[in-house]
Amino acid sequence: MKILITGNMGYVGPGVVSKLREVYPDGELIGFDTGYFAHGLTNVPFLPETKLNKQIFGDVRNFDLNILNGVDAIVYLAAISNDPMGNRFEDVTMEINYKAAVTMAKLAKEKGVSSFVYASSCSVYGEADDNAKVESDKLNPLTAYARSKIATEIDLEPLADNNFTVTCLRFATACGFSNRLRLDLVINDFVAGAVTSKKIDILSDGTPWRPLINVLDMARAIDWAITRASNNGGKFLAVNTGSNKWNYQVKELAHVVAEVVDGCKVTVNQDAPPDKRSYRVNFNLYEKLAPNHQPIFDLKTTISDLYNNLIGMGFNDVKFRESHLMRLNVIKHLQEIKALDSNLFWNR
Ligand SMILES: NC(=O)c1ccc[n+]([C@@H]2O[C@H](COP(=O)([O-])OP(=O)(O)OC[C@H]3O[C@@H](n4cnc5c(N)ncnc54)[C@H](O)[C@@H]3O)[C@@H](O)[C@H]2O)c1
Repeated sequence: MKILITGNMGYVGPGVVSKLREVYPDGELIGFDTGYFAHGLTNVPFLPETKLNKQIFGDVRNFDLNILNGVDAIVYLAAISNDPMGNRFEDVTMEINYKAAVTMAKLAKEKGVSSFVYASSCSVYGEADDNAKVESDKLNPLTAYARSKIATEIDLEPLADNNFTVTCLRFATACGFSNRLRLDLVINDFVAGAVTSKKIDILSDGTPWRPLINVLDMARAIDWAITRASNNGGKFLAVNTGSNKWNYQVKELAHVVAEVVDGCKVTVNQDAPPDKRSYRVNFNLYEKLAPNHQPIFDLKTTISDLYNNLIGMGFNDVKFRESHLMRLNVIKHLQEIKALDSNLFWNR
Protein backbone atom coordinates (compact mmCIF):
# COMPACT_ATOMS: atom_id res chain seq x y z
CA MET A 1 0.00 0.00 0.00
CA LYS A 2 1.37 3.40 -0.98
CA ILE A 3 -0.43 6.34 0.61
CA LEU A 4 0.13 10.05 0.10
CA ILE A 5 -0.98 12.28 2.97
CA THR A 6 -1.17 15.99 2.17
CA GLY A 7 -1.20 18.47 5.05
CA ASN A 8 0.34 15.85 7.34
CA MET A 9 2.36 18.35 9.40
CA GLY A 10 -0.61 19.99 11.11
CA TYR A 11 -2.78 19.10 14.09
CA VAL A 12 -4.58 16.07 12.63
CA GLY A 13 -1.69 14.70 10.55
CA PRO A 14 0.58 13.18 13.22
CA GLY A 15 -2.22 10.95 14.54
CA VAL A 16 -3.11 9.89 11.00
CA VAL A 17 0.48 8.99 10.17
CA SER A 18 0.81 7.04 13.38
CA LYS A 19 -2.45 5.15 12.77
CA LEU A 20 -1.59 4.33 9.16
CA ARG A 21 1.87 3.11 10.18
CA GLU A 22 0.22 0.81 12.72
CA VAL A 23 -2.22 -0.54 10.09
CA TYR A 24 0.39 -0.76 7.28
CA PRO A 25 3.70 -1.58 8.98
CA ASP A 26 5.28 -2.28 5.59
CA GLY A 27 3.32 0.30 3.61
CA GLU A 28 4.90 3.24 1.86
CA LEU A 29 3.68 6.41 3.54
CA ILE A 30 4.54 9.75 2.00
CA GLY A 31 3.84 13.13 3.57
CA PHE A 32 3.35 16.28 1.52
CA ASP A 33 3.17 19.61 3.31
CA THR A 34 4.25 23.19 2.86
CA GLY A 35 5.21 23.31 6.53
CA TYR A 36 3.41 26.38 7.90
CA PHE A 37 3.19 24.80 11.35
CA ALA A 38 5.95 22.23 11.07
CA HIS A 39 7.96 23.95 13.81
CA GLY A 40 4.99 23.94 16.22
CA LEU A 41 5.82 20.66 17.95
CA THR A 42 4.24 20.04 21.34
CA ASN A 43 5.42 17.53 23.93
CA VAL A 44 7.00 15.23 21.36
CA PRO A 45 9.24 12.31 22.16
CA PHE A 46 10.34 12.22 18.48
CA LEU A 47 9.48 13.88 15.18
CA PRO A 48 6.13 12.44 13.99
CA GLU A 49 7.39 12.33 10.39
CA THR A 50 9.96 9.65 11.24
CA LYS A 51 7.09 7.18 10.81
CA LEU A 52 6.88 8.11 7.13
CA ASN A 53 9.01 6.71 4.33
CA LYS A 54 9.36 10.17 2.90
CA GLN A 55 8.41 13.77 3.69
CA ILE A 56 8.03 16.08 0.72
CA PHE A 57 7.91 19.85 1.28
CA GLY A 58 5.69 21.36 -1.35
CA ASP A 59 2.56 23.34 -2.04
CA VAL A 60 -0.58 21.58 -3.23
CA ARG A 61 -1.12 24.53 -5.58
CA ASN A 62 2.08 23.55 -7.48
CA PHE A 63 1.85 19.82 -7.38
CA ASP A 64 4.21 17.59 -9.36
CA LEU A 65 2.15 14.71 -10.68
CA ASN A 66 5.15 12.36 -10.66
CA ILE A 67 4.65 12.15 -6.92
CA LEU A 68 1.56 10.08 -7.69
CA ASN A 69 3.47 7.26 -9.38
CA GLY A 70 2.32 4.00 -7.82
CA VAL A 71 0.16 5.72 -5.18
CA ASP A 72 -2.91 3.71 -4.11
CA ALA A 73 -4.63 6.26 -1.88
CA ILE A 74 -4.52 9.96 -1.11
CA VAL A 75 -5.58 11.53 2.17
CA TYR A 76 -6.15 15.23 1.57
CA LEU A 77 -5.74 17.13 4.84
CA ALA A 78 -3.99 20.21 3.43
CA ALA A 79 -6.07 23.27 4.18
CA ILE A 80 -6.47 26.73 5.50
CA SER A 81 -8.16 25.11 8.38
CA ASN A 82 -10.49 27.44 10.22
CA ASP A 83 -12.91 30.32 9.88
CA PRO A 84 -10.66 33.16 11.11
CA MET A 85 -7.97 32.22 8.56
CA GLY A 86 -10.56 31.59 5.88
CA ASN A 87 -12.08 35.04 6.43
CA ARG A 88 -8.72 36.72 6.15
CA PHE A 89 -7.44 34.68 3.20
CA GLU A 90 -10.60 33.90 1.31
CA ASP A 91 -9.09 33.40 -2.16
CA VAL A 92 -6.18 31.38 -0.84
CA THR A 93 -8.63 29.20 1.10
CA MET A 94 -10.52 28.43 -2.10
CA GLU A 95 -7.27 27.69 -3.94
CA ILE A 96 -5.86 25.30 -1.34
CA ASN A 97 -8.94 23.68 0.15
CA TYR A 98 -10.94 23.45 -3.08
CA LYS A 99 -9.19 24.00 -6.40
CA ALA A 100 -5.93 22.24 -5.58
CA ALA A 101 -7.86 19.33 -4.04
CA VAL A 102 -10.00 18.83 -7.14
CA THR A 103 -6.99 19.18 -9.45
CA MET A 104 -5.10 16.59 -7.41
CA ALA A 105 -8.10 14.23 -7.50
CA LYS A 106 -8.29 14.53 -11.30
CA LEU A 107 -4.57 13.81 -11.65
CA ALA A 108 -4.91 10.94 -9.21
CA LYS A 109 -7.69 9.38 -11.21
CA GLU A 110 -5.63 9.59 -14.41
CA LYS A 111 -2.69 8.03 -12.61
CA GLY A 112 -4.73 5.07 -11.37
CA VAL A 113 -4.97 6.00 -7.70
CA SER A 114 -7.95 4.06 -6.36
CA SER A 115 -9.02 5.99 -3.26
CA PHE A 116 -9.26 9.70 -2.47
CA VAL A 117 -10.15 10.72 1.08
CA TYR A 118 -11.00 14.36 1.66
CA ALA A 119 -11.18 16.00 5.09
CA SER A 120 -14.47 17.89 4.92
CA SER A 121 -16.28 19.43 7.86
CA CYS A 122 -19.63 19.48 9.65
CA SER A 123 -19.38 23.26 9.47
CA VAL A 124 -21.06 22.93 6.07
CA TYR A 125 -24.34 22.82 8.02
CA GLY A 126 -23.76 26.33 9.40
CA GLU A 127 -26.67 27.80 11.30
CA ALA A 128 -29.14 24.99 11.61
CA ASP A 129 -32.49 24.33 13.26
CA ASP A 130 -32.88 21.95 16.18
CA ASN A 131 -32.89 18.76 14.13
CA ALA A 132 -29.65 16.85 13.96
CA LYS A 133 -28.41 17.18 10.40
CA VAL A 134 -28.18 14.21 8.06
CA GLU A 135 -26.03 14.19 4.93
CA SER A 136 -28.91 14.90 2.56
CA ASP A 137 -30.10 17.97 4.51
CA LYS A 138 -29.76 21.41 3.06
CA LEU A 139 -26.33 22.89 3.62
CA ASN A 140 -25.87 26.39 4.95
CA PRO A 141 -22.22 27.41 4.84
CA LEU A 142 -21.60 30.66 6.69
CA THR A 143 -17.91 31.09 6.00
CA ALA A 144 -15.31 30.85 3.24
CA TYR A 145 -13.91 27.80 5.00
CA ALA A 146 -17.25 25.98 4.91
CA ARG A 147 -17.89 27.09 1.31
CA SER A 148 -14.51 25.70 0.24
CA LYS A 149 -15.40 22.30 1.68
CA ILE A 150 -18.78 22.12 -0.07
CA ALA A 151 -17.39 23.29 -3.40
CA THR A 152 -14.85 20.47 -3.22
CA GLU A 153 -17.45 17.84 -2.41
CA ILE A 154 -19.54 18.97 -5.37
CA ASP A 155 -16.67 18.77 -7.84
CA LEU A 156 -15.31 15.50 -6.47
CA GLU A 157 -18.60 13.64 -6.81
CA PRO A 158 -18.61 13.25 -10.63
CA LEU A 159 -15.02 11.99 -10.58
CA ALA A 160 -15.90 8.92 -8.54
CA ASP A 161 -16.33 5.65 -10.40
CA ASN A 162 -15.69 1.91 -10.02
CA ASN A 163 -11.95 2.46 -10.04
CA PHE A 164 -11.82 5.69 -8.10
CA THR A 165 -13.55 5.80 -4.72
CA VAL A 166 -14.02 9.24 -3.20
CA THR A 167 -14.85 9.70 0.46
CA CYS A 168 -15.53 13.10 2.01
CA LEU A 169 -15.44 12.81 5.76
CA ARG A 170 -17.50 15.63 7.23
CA PHE A 171 -15.63 15.78 10.51
CA ALA A 172 -17.04 17.18 13.71
CA THR A 173 -14.84 19.78 15.44
CA ALA A 174 -11.65 18.11 16.55
CA CYS A 175 -10.33 18.09 20.08
CA GLY A 176 -7.61 16.42 22.10
CA PHE A 177 -3.87 16.33 22.26
CA SER A 178 -1.63 16.14 19.19
CA ASN A 179 2.09 16.47 18.64
CA ARG A 180 1.23 19.68 16.78
CA LEU A 181 -1.41 21.02 19.10
CA ARG A 182 -3.81 23.83 18.17
CA LEU A 183 -5.63 25.81 20.80
CA ASP A 184 -8.07 27.51 18.41
CA LEU A 185 -10.55 24.68 18.92
CA VAL A 186 -13.23 24.90 21.54
CA ILE A 187 -12.28 22.12 23.97
CA ASN A 188 -8.58 22.72 23.57
CA ASP A 189 -9.13 26.40 24.36
CA PHE A 190 -11.15 25.55 27.48
CA VAL A 191 -8.53 23.13 28.79
CA ALA A 192 -5.73 25.62 28.10
CA GLY A 193 -7.68 28.24 30.09
CA ALA A 194 -8.21 25.76 32.90
CA VAL A 195 -4.50 24.92 33.06
CA THR A 196 -3.18 28.47 32.91
CA SER A 197 -5.69 30.46 34.93
CA LYS A 198 -8.25 28.04 36.37
CA LYS A 199 -10.74 29.95 34.25
CA ILE A 200 -12.83 28.83 31.31
CA ASP A 201 -13.96 31.80 29.24
CA ILE A 202 -16.88 31.11 26.97
CA LEU A 203 -16.63 33.69 24.22
CA SER A 204 -20.25 33.28 23.14
CA ASP A 205 -23.40 32.96 25.24
CA GLY A 206 -22.65 29.23 25.39
CA THR A 207 -25.81 28.06 23.68
CA PRO A 208 -24.46 26.93 20.27
CA TRP A 209 -24.38 23.23 19.55
CA ARG A 210 -21.13 21.65 18.45
CA PRO A 211 -20.46 18.05 17.52
CA LEU A 212 -16.95 17.02 18.53
CA ILE A 213 -14.51 14.23 17.76
CA ASN A 214 -11.22 13.21 19.31
CA VAL A 215 -8.41 13.88 16.85
CA LEU A 216 -7.28 10.24 17.13
CA ASP A 217 -10.76 9.04 16.23
CA MET A 218 -10.42 11.12 13.05
CA ALA A 219 -7.41 8.97 12.20
CA ARG A 220 -9.50 5.81 12.69
CA ALA A 221 -12.11 7.18 10.29
CA ILE A 222 -9.45 7.97 7.69
CA ASP A 223 -8.11 4.45 8.00
CA TRP A 224 -11.62 3.16 7.29
CA ALA A 225 -12.21 5.51 4.36
CA ILE A 226 -8.99 4.54 2.55
CA THR A 227 -10.19 1.02 1.91
CA ARG A 228 -13.93 1.24 2.34
CA ALA A 229 -15.70 -0.95 -0.19
CA SER A 230 -17.13 1.43 -2.75
CA ASN A 231 -20.31 -0.63 -2.99
CA ASN A 232 -21.36 -0.18 0.61
CA GLY A 233 -21.65 3.57 0.60
CA GLY A 234 -21.44 4.30 -3.12
CA LYS A 235 -18.46 5.28 -5.22
CA PHE A 236 -18.80 8.78 -3.87
CA LEU A 237 -19.64 9.26 -0.25
CA ALA A 238 -19.97 12.34 1.93
CA VAL A 239 -20.51 11.19 5.48
CA ASN A 240 -20.83 12.93 8.83
CA THR A 241 -17.93 11.64 10.88
CA GLY A 242 -18.25 11.61 14.62
CA SER A 243 -20.61 10.15 17.17
CA ASN A 244 -24.20 10.88 18.20
CA LYS A 245 -22.96 10.89 21.80
CA TRP A 246 -20.70 13.86 21.08
CA ASN A 247 -23.25 16.59 20.24
CA TYR A 248 -22.79 19.17 22.97
CA GLN A 249 -23.75 22.73 23.75
CA VAL A 250 -20.68 24.89 24.30
CA LYS A 251 -21.62 25.74 27.90
CA GLU A 252 -22.06 22.05 28.67
CA LEU A 253 -18.54 21.41 27.37
CA ALA A 254 -17.14 24.11 29.63
CA HIS A 255 -18.77 22.49 32.65
CA VAL A 256 -17.36 19.07 31.77
CA VAL A 257 -13.87 20.64 31.60
CA ALA A 258 -14.52 22.25 34.98
CA GLU A 259 -15.47 18.85 36.41
CA VAL A 260 -12.26 17.26 35.15
CA VAL A 261 -9.94 20.11 36.12
CA ASP A 262 -10.66 20.78 39.78
CA GLY A 263 -11.35 24.30 40.97
CA CYS A 264 -12.08 25.96 37.62
CA LYS A 265 -14.50 28.81 37.17
CA VAL A 266 -16.67 29.05 34.08
CA THR A 267 -17.50 32.54 32.79
CA VAL A 268 -20.09 33.15 30.09
CA ASN A 269 -20.04 36.31 28.04
CA GLN A 270 -23.66 37.39 28.54
CA ASP A 271 -23.24 40.31 26.15
CA ALA A 272 -21.91 38.20 23.29
CA PRO A 273 -24.02 38.22 20.16
CA PRO A 274 -25.39 34.73 19.49
CA ASP A 275 -22.88 32.57 17.62
CA LYS A 276 -24.67 31.65 14.43
CA ARG A 277 -22.57 28.55 13.85
CA SER A 278 -24.73 26.13 15.73
CA TYR A 279 -25.59 22.68 14.52
CA ARG A 280 -26.40 19.23 15.77
CA VAL A 281 -25.34 16.39 13.55
CA ASN A 282 -26.68 12.90 13.01
CA PHE A 283 -23.92 10.28 12.69
CA ASN A 284 -26.12 7.24 11.99
CA LEU A 285 -24.77 6.70 8.48
CA TYR A 286 -21.19 6.55 9.72
CA GLU A 287 -22.25 4.15 12.45
CA LYS A 288 -23.88 1.90 9.87
CA LEU A 289 -21.06 2.00 7.32
CA ALA A 290 -18.06 1.86 9.66
CA PRO A 291 -19.10 -0.26 12.66
CA ASN A 292 -15.49 -1.24 13.37
CA HIS A 293 -14.12 2.29 13.21
CA GLN A 294 -16.47 4.14 15.52
CA PRO A 295 -15.03 6.76 17.89
CA ILE A 296 -13.64 5.07 20.97
CA PHE A 297 -12.63 8.03 23.15
CA ASP A 298 -14.90 9.68 25.67
CA LEU A 299 -14.97 13.35 26.46
CA LYS A 300 -13.58 13.18 29.99
CA THR A 301 -10.62 11.02 28.94
CA THR A 302 -9.93 13.39 26.05
CA ILE A 303 -9.92 16.36 28.43
CA SER A 304 -7.73 14.72 31.05
CA ASP A 305 -5.25 13.51 28.44
CA LEU A 306 -5.02 17.03 27.04
CA TYR A 307 -4.65 18.43 30.55
CA ASN A 308 -1.86 15.99 31.43
CA ASN A 309 0.03 16.75 28.24
CA LEU A 310 -0.22 20.51 28.78
CA ILE A 311 1.05 20.08 32.32
CA GLY A 312 3.73 17.71 30.97
CA MET A 313 5.03 20.36 28.59
CA GLY A 314 5.10 22.98 31.35
CA PHE A 315 2.39 24.99 29.61
CA ASN A 316 1.65 28.21 31.50
CA ASP A 317 0.94 30.85 28.86
CA VAL A 318 -2.01 32.85 30.19
CA LYS A 319 -2.10 34.76 26.90
CA PHE A 320 -2.28 31.58 24.83
CA ARG A 321 -4.90 33.12 22.55
CA GLU A 322 -2.15 35.44 21.33
CA SER A 323 0.36 32.61 20.96
CA HIS A 324 1.71 30.45 18.16
CA LEU A 325 -0.68 27.67 19.21
CA MET A 326 -3.39 29.56 17.31
CA ARG A 327 -3.09 28.85 13.59
CA LEU A 328 -3.90 32.40 12.42
CA ASN A 329 -1.22 33.93 14.68
CA VAL A 330 1.45 31.74 13.09
CA ILE A 331 0.44 32.70 9.57
CA LYS A 332 0.29 36.41 10.49
CA HIS A 333 3.73 36.24 12.07
CA LEU A 334 5.21 34.45 9.04
CA GLN A 335 3.87 37.27 6.90
CA GLU A 336 5.17 39.96 9.26
CA ILE A 337 8.69 38.58 9.04
CA LYS A 338 8.22 38.32 5.26
CA ALA A 339 8.63 34.56 5.21
CA LEU A 340 5.25 34.19 3.48
CA ASP A 341 3.85 36.42 0.73
CA SER A 342 0.29 37.70 0.50
CA ASN A 343 -0.86 34.44 -1.14
CA LEU A 344 0.84 32.34 1.51
CA PHE A 345 3.63 31.13 -0.72
CA TRP A 346 7.08 31.00 0.89
CA ASN A 347 9.39 33.84 -0.11
CA ARG A 348 12.46 31.91 -1.19
N1 LIG B 1 -9.32 20.41 13.31
C1 LIG B 1 -10.62 20.32 13.11
O1 LIG B 1 -11.46 20.60 13.98
C2 LIG B 1 -11.16 19.85 11.80
C3 LIG B 1 -12.51 19.58 11.69
C4 LIG B 1 -13.01 19.22 10.47
C5 LIG B 1 -12.17 19.11 9.39
N2 LIG B 1 -10.85 19.38 9.51
C6 LIG B 1 -9.99 19.30 8.33
O2 LIG B 1 -8.93 18.39 8.59
C7 LIG B 1 -7.76 18.82 7.90
C8 LIG B 1 -6.59 18.92 8.87
O3 LIG B 1 -6.91 19.88 9.87
P1 LIG B 1 -5.84 20.34 10.95
O4 LIG B 1 -6.62 20.68 12.17
O5 LIG B 1 -4.74 19.37 11.02
O6 LIG B 1 -5.33 21.70 10.29
P2 LIG B 1 -3.88 22.38 10.44
O7 LIG B 1 -4.03 23.79 10.04
O8 LIG B 1 -3.30 22.07 11.74
O9 LIG B 1 -3.03 21.61 9.33
C9 LIG B 1 -3.21 21.83 7.95
C10 LIG B 1 -1.92 21.44 7.27
O10 LIG B 1 -2.05 21.72 5.87
C11 LIG B 1 -0.84 22.29 5.42
N3 LIG B 1 -1.10 23.12 4.25
C12 LIG B 1 -1.84 24.25 4.20
N4 LIG B 1 -1.78 24.78 2.96
C13 LIG B 1 -1.00 23.96 2.22
C14 LIG B 1 -0.56 23.98 0.88
N5 LIG B 1 -0.90 24.99 0.04
N6 LIG B 1 0.24 22.98 0.43
C15 LIG B 1 0.62 21.97 1.27
N7 LIG B 1 0.24 21.92 2.57
C16 LIG B 1 -0.56 22.89 3.04
C17 LIG B 1 -0.34 23.12 6.59
O11 LIG B 1 1.04 23.40 6.48
C18 LIG B 1 -0.70 22.23 7.77
O12 LIG B 1 0.35 21.36 8.07
C19 LIG B 1 -8.12 20.14 7.23
O13 LIG B 1 -8.52 19.88 5.91
C20 LIG B 1 -9.30 20.62 8.03
O14 LIG B 1 -10.13 21.48 7.27
C21 LIG B 1 -10.32 19.73 10.69
